[in-house]
Amino acid sequence: MQAIEAITKRRAVRAYTDIPVPDDVLDRLLRAALAAPTGSGSQAWTLLVVRDPDRRRAIADLVIAGAARYFTIMRPPAEGAGPEAHAQWAADYAETTLATYRDAPVWILGLVVPRHNYPEQMREGGHIDDVLSLGFAMENLFVAARAEGLGTVPTTAFQRFEKDRLRAIVALPDDIDPAIITPLGAPPAFPEELPPAIRKLRRPWRSLVHDDTWGNVRSS
Ligand SMILES: Cc1cc2nc3c(=O)[nH]c(=O)nc-3n(C[C@H](O)[C@H](O)[C@H](O)COP(=O)(O)O)c2cc1C
Repeated sequence: MQAIEAITKRRAVRAYTDIPVPDDVLDRLLRAALAAPTGSGSQAWTLLVVRDPDRRRAIADLVIAGAARYFTIMRPPAEGAGPEAHAQWAADYAETTLATYRDAPVWILGLVVPRHNYPEQMREGGHIDDVLSLGFAMENLFVAARAEGLGTVPTTAFQRFEKDRLRAIVALPDDIDPAIITPLGAPPAFPEELPPAIRKLRRPWRSLVHDDTWGNVRSS
């Protein structure tokens, strides 16, 4: 599959089979990820590959629980539903939509690893560059995975409130941030479209391109 096709066909995959990912394929994906640009050449990243079944299961459980919390906060309650009923709806919804995360044969944790190489006046911007660089690396991985017929989903919000629990599962020190994580595995089928709720929000691409000056929205 060519690069543009892999980029446009990549979708957030939220259903997985347990078909194993061969080692050579995994290595190719990891090396593609680590070929990404990296601010100041810092390589302030590490990819933690989780294949141990107990750890994978614990990560999937944590992510599904985090998703329930996310949906509780982000989705409006049904008419007349009190806080408890809404939280129960969110837990059921997370379980229904993400249960096969427990089947994914691999989880990849994208870690921001401070290299302590920024002087004081560059520290904040340097940290942002480190996070951006990890994002580029993970996008390389997502696109390369799509080209290999494997699914991924950039996940930042679902682990947001549970990072210490996640750190404990994989023995991560406190100063290392598991900022972007993903299951990796073959989906039963690749989604061809965005889910309807997201598709409705999608802005036409031209409205997101301005030519020469701000506000000069591309019209054709
Ligand atoms: C920075 C970032 C964070 C995201 N966090 C999550 C997440 O925590 N959970 C999740 O299921 N999807 C997450 N997504 C996936 C988006 O929901 C998805 O990319 C978006 O709906 C567009 O769908 P597509 O990836 O199929 O184009 C995240 C995407 C990005 C770029």
